[in-house]
Amino acid sequence: MANSIYRYSQLNPIIFGPGSIACVGEELTKLGCKKLMLVCGPNVTKSGALVKCEESLKAAGIGYAYWNEVAPDAPSTLINKAAKYAIEQECDSVLAVGGGSCMDLAKGIAILLDKKETEIEKYMPGPPMTIQPNIPIILAPTTSGSGSEGTQVSVITHDALGQKRAIFTHATLGIIDPVLTLTCPPSVTAQAGFDVLAHCVESITSRDRNPHSEVLALSALRRVRDNLVECYKNGTNLEARTEMALASNWAGLAFVDTDVHLGHITCDALSATCHTPHGIECAWTTPVLLKLMADYVPEEIKKIAEAMRVELTGTETNLEVAEKIGDVIHAMMRECEVKSLAGYGKTREDAVAGANVIVEGPHLWSKCPVYVDKPLTMEDAEKLLGDIYDSYQ
Ligand SMILES: [Fe+2]
Repeated sequence: MANSIYRYSQLNPIIFGPGSIACVGEELTKLGCKKLMLVCGPNVTKSGALVKCEESLKAAGIGYAYWNEVAPDAPSTLINKAAKYAIEQECDSVLAVGGGSCMDLAKGIAILLDKKETEIEKYMPGPPMTIQPNIPIILAPTTSGSGSEGTQVSVITHDALGQKRAIFTHATLGIIDPVLTLTCPPSVTAQAGFDVLAHCVESITSRDRNPHSEVLALSALRRVRDNLVECYKNGTNLEARTEMALASNWAGLAFVDTDVHLGHITCDALSATCHTPHGIECAWTTPVLLKLMADYVPEEIKKIAEAMRVELTGTETNLEVAEKIGDVIHAMMRECEVKSLAGYGKTREDAVAGANVIVEGPHLWSKCPVYVDKPLTMEDAEKLLGDIYDSYQ
């Protein structure tokens, strides 16, 4: 272990299991809610995932104002608009039924609703602020990805600056009903799943890893290995969806204390110039990151190999172990039909152009760059991004 004294958090309770969304009305009653802001994307509305939720709210006599405008990476201007509506509607709580961006949007709305304000940018000065509203926030994920229902992280886009930034706010309660993920489209299933995989790998290899984070991340990683491709190919397999839902939450709980690190910074770099989906950036980045870290954290790399059922002879070098894990990840990516950067119409130059984001920031998590033993130079960062482009065609 990296440290003998460590911290692990228990942020909020989770109710987990198929059908668990039916308890939302009862749980909101316990929290004293009378009228909530229900945040939910139009796709979720169409999928019918809301029916059980609305039945439960009606049975409990809880009113709600409905908001169905959501967008990737929770734009700040959208949060401001939604918060104004929630204030006008005199809501006293926020419930999100949706993916990672929807849940982060809800966290932003809750901050403003509690303060009766309409400008979230005020709380996004650069380094993440910790703000915990005094109103209930209930998050019910419909994808298995960000784990936002169990973490303090909300990623919000500062629209005026064109930058993704974080605010630290956690839910009051997470309700993880895997039935809600059954209608998640295959492409989103894959994107979200490779995000979970990256959360596991970066938590296991983090400088701040501890026994608590490790047991969660390794267990989550095994579940991703065994169930992500099945969820992509057969989205209605409830058993596989349940395993991925648990993996998503546990990977999130693992990185609450360890943070994610260089992999996610590299994703930010790709995102800045290529504007590709976060989870796909995670898929491209993780195999290269493993090779970069192989000699720094060899024992952890072996644990990752074991969790991913990589066959080893025991004679491999650290780098060879990392390469074999990368081969397994690439095979999963092909099964999930993940396109290459070139497949997204991006050139090697596009990928390398984001190197300054790795070296200079802005970073969501300020201490990220030092997880390898020295800060990366521009040359290192350009090589890293070039390797990512070349390694998956
Ligand atoms: Fe992520």
